[in-house]
Amino acid sequence: MKLKILTLCLTLLFILQVNAAYSSPNYADALAKSILFFEGQRSGKLPGDQRVSWRGDSGLSDGSPYQVDLVGGYYDAGDNVKFGLPMAFTTTMLAWSVVEFGNLMQGEIEHAKAAVRWGADYLLKAATATPDALYIQVADPNQDHRCWERPEDMDTPRNVYRVTAQNPGSDVAAETAAALAAASIVFRDSDPAYSAKLLQTAMRVFDFADKYRGAYSDSLSSVVCPFYCSYSGYHDELLWGASWLHQASENISYMSYIQSNGHTLGAEDDDYSFSWDDKRIATKVLLSKGFLQNRIDSLQLYKVHSDNYICSLVPGSNSFQAQYTPGGLLYKGSESNLQYVTSTAFLLLAYSKYLGSNGGYVSCGSTTVTASNLISLAKKQVDYILGQNPAQMSYMVGFGPRYPQHVHHRGSSLPSVHDHPGRISCGDGFQFLYSGSPNPNVLVGAVIGGPDSGDRFADDRNNYQQSEPATYINAPMVGALAFFAGTPVLR
Ligand SMILES: *[C@@H]1O[C@H](CO)[C@@H](O)[C@H](O)[C@H]1NC(C)=O
Repeated sequence: MKLKILTLCLTLLFILQVNAAYSSPNYADALAKSILFFEGQRSGKLPGDQRVSWRGDSGLSDGSPYQVDLVGGYYDAGDNVKFGLPMAFTTTMLAWSVVEFGNLMQGEIEHAKAAVRWGADYLLKAATATPDALYIQVADPNQDHRCWERPEDMDTPRNVYRVTAQNPGSDVAAETAAALAAASIVFRDSDPAYSAKLLQTAMRVFDFADKYRGAYSDSLSSVVCPFYCSYSGYHDELLWGASWLHQASENISYMSYIQSNGHTLGAEDDDYSFSWDDKRIATKVLLSKGFLQNRIDSLQLYKVHSDNYICSLVPGSNSFQAQYTPGGLLYKGSESNLQYVTSTAFLLLAYSKYLGSNGGYVSCGSTTVTASNLISLAKKQVDYILGQNPAQMSYMVGFGPRYPQHVHHRGSSLPSVHDHPGRISCGDGFQFLYSGSPNPNVLVGAVIGGPDSGDRFADDRNNYQQSEPATYINAPMVGALAFFAGTPVLR
């Protein structure tokens, strides 16, 4: 009897401790910060309402030697290059975040829309500057990476690269079409003229992507590889672009396109690595929305594919194949692993919404997975990022009591132009890369590459695999955080 009481007490104590350890993070704070991060990545002329005050204007003559205006857009990560493929993907994911979860963003919705617009404005310029060309990059990354410079001081060549009928890039062009189409949905009610312009341009860019087929890394390999090489090819982006155009336009011709080209989306070899490169599983999830919410029966196949994906993530299910760290983090690879975690969390939540709207569920052999199971799985990943992990480290900069101090980011690690107006030249900046001091400018809201397969993290500025932020790590996180911030029952 005594033993039983003791066991009961210990069990209670255990439950209380677990509850204390897993009390939810402040999602509303994390949401606000995840969006603020994008202001730190802005290129071009900063607006009057810029809140990240340690930044200044930069790249003000981007494109001008080529008689085009390519001012604006986002730096992808910790350097000063404007890479078109990840920028377009970032814009698509920010827009998808608003499309699915914007109604849960409360006071942050306008900031989120401003982040979408900053990307979309640039993509519009890149797509319309010259007929029959899409500008896909500003700056040679090899030259940029030889310097450790603030964007405001940048004096490396701002070469401009583009894809054309002769040197096609269906990958980057179809992703740009996806971004413009998704953004057009975001602004459909609040700015119909802008929305219409985004959609028209998306349709044109998609035609260009489809008509002139090829991977952009075939002609531009020396400046896009290995950084943002099109490893997965361009079929995934074509179908993804068509799916977004179908969402945005409801034009039947995109559904016909999906039906006649969908077979290229084979499920067998999909390793479910949703990222700036590989859109296969995200397209399946997006198309299954058409089946679950709009009852388009011809899309049922995509629910089957999406269910297989879900089963691959659920431990104990018959087709489980994901890898998790001992601390429970989804693990796909050593370089910027958290990009896969945020994109997966987003897909889980989007799919839970589509399933939930239809009373749907997923059967993984004898295991039934419900919408709320998907939410729990996503919550575990988001909470891990926000500090509930063995290292007790928040991987969002500026969030919680402990977060990385040595972020691999030029602007954040060098003194602000406002504190130190004198120029810091290309080579002089490296002392700040190698310094042991914390970054002087906190890049609030940045989610960085994250820990290794054993939950270990070295807070080392030169370890870019772990300590570099990227716009495409944050963009899906915006949607996931909006979900948790705006769904009170889960708090
Ligand atoms: C639908 O899309 C096709 C292909 O882009 C286009 O030719 C057609 O004009 C569109 N129809 C409408 C009603 O917008």
